[in-house]
This record gives sequence, C-alpha cells and structure tokens, in this order.
Amino acid sequence: MHIYTSIAALRNARTKARRVVFAPTMGNLHDGHIALVHAAREFANANAGTVIASIFINRLQFGQGEDFDKYPRTFKADCEKLTAAGVDHLFAPDEAEMYPQPQRYHVTPDPEHASVLEGAYRPGHFRGVATVVLKLFNIVQPSVVLFGKKDYQQFLILKNMVRELALPIEVIAQDTIRADDGLALSSRNGYLSASERAEAPRLYRQLCAVAKAVRNGSRDFVNLEAAALAELQRYSWKPDYLTVRRRVDLRTPRELGEPLVVLAAARLGTTRLIDNIEI
Ligand code: PAF
Repeated sequence: MHIYTSIAALRNARTKARRVVFAPTMGNLHDGHIALVHAAREFANANAGTVIASIFINRLQFGQGEDFDKYPRTFKADCEKLTAAGVDHLFAPDEAEMYPQPQRYHVTPDPEHASVLEGAYRPGHFRGVATVVLKLFNIVQPSVVLFGKKDYQQFLILKNMVRELALPIEVIAQDTIRADDGLALSSRNGYLSASERAEAPRLYRQLCAVAKAVRNGSRDFVNLEAAALAELQRYSWKPDYLTVRRRVDLRTPRELGEPLVVLAAARLGTTRLIDNIEI
C-alpha cells in the first residue's frame, strides 16, 4: 500500500488508476471498516479498479465539547489493517494539507435531512461531513464510494449530495457489522468501561424489539418508542432519541408499506452510541 500525505502526490498516483473505489475513514479502524474495505476490494477486482482509502480526522464535523481531541489516533495499526485488506493507496493528509486556511466554503445539506435526529443534537455536524467528503471526492475522484449504514443519516445525506450535485459517483451502502452480542461496531465503543460494554447491546435489543413489533403490524409508533426509551432509562442510559422513520427521508411514517428504519442515539456513561436497523 502506498501512503500519500499531500494532495499533489495522491493526484499524481490517481492519474494512473482508471476506476477508483473509495473508502473514506477517520481511522481507528475496526472490523466494520475492514468489511467495508474488503467490499471495496471485491468491487475493484471485478471492475479492474483501484482501491483508495483515506484517514483524516475532520475537525469540521466535531462540535464544541465533542471528542475531536481524544478521538483515537492509531495510524500504524490502521495501515497494517488496510494493507492486509488489499488497499492500493492511502490518502492520509494532516490538517494543514486539508485546511491550509480556515474553510470558508461549505456544503450545507438540506436542513430537512440534516437538522433532525443527529443534526438536532450535533448542530453543524453534517455540514462538516458533507464539506470534507466533497473535498475528498475532488481530490480522489472516485467512481465508486462505500459508506457504512451504521451512520444511516450520514449515508442518506451523502447519497443525496452526490445525486443533487450530479457527481459521477456510485454510492454503495455497507451493512452494519455487529459484535456477537449485537453491538454495532464503532470507534467509540473503545471509550466504554467493561461494565458499560456489557450493557451496551441493550440499545440494539431495543431497536430489534421495536422493529419486531412494527413487522408484526403495530403502527403505534409513539408507544413503541416510549416503551423502548423507558427501558433504556431504566438501565441508566440517557437517550437522545429512539424513533421509527421513513427510510427515504427520515420523516415520520405516513402510509402503510413505506420502507422504514428505526434509529437511536443514547449516552451510556460519557459515551454516545448510535445505531439503527431497517425494518
Ligand atoms: O464516517 C466517517 O468516518 C466520517 O464521517 C467520514 C465520512 C470519513 C467523513 O469524515
């Protein structure tokens, strides 16, 4: 795997590749990222493509008081994992390379998508994500990009950004990878104490309980959500939301037969976990 820290060097390497399959990350890679990179490798192999991954911890998408400073930096271990997973090129710029001056031009996603759920609790987050991802697209010029569905709202916003800005990029969704007990893999799981880690799968279990009731025909979303939130609170969670939404736009369901997703965010101790399952 070749590692590039400058935009110019990455662009130069990029000129020799025809079809680029891109896996953007912030590093601190776990098996969920690696599954995504494996999927990128398979796709590239089938299409004479080149796999480019990136590692960049994007300050723009962290709010005040969030974990930008303590976000784990595990570059050496990440490189070993990416090499083993078959990545051809890694783009790993520092902040001075990505933001040589304060970023004054931004991508502002549709507030209907970006100001609800995560956006309501993390104002500006999706603007930071969309801005860095568009910048990475301009540098890497991928034909295909993979995003994990664990960050469901991020996936939806970025897919819409690609469509509405007519970017010539195919967006592929990668299913959430879970530990044996159901906990969605996340870099933030590393912040959990041993007892919190044992408690953490309850979030997934509550999502499953709501999804099961909906699949069995319940439309009483208000009571289903309230029961799941109460159950989390009973075990000392501080939930921000647990809610059933339409997959297409994350709005409240209106009609029978709409594809749905149940999404949640909740704090366990000082760690904020998010998860979702499609119904
Ligand atoms: O999902 C992430 O890791 C980040 O939000 C992304 C897409 C790499 C942008 O910084």
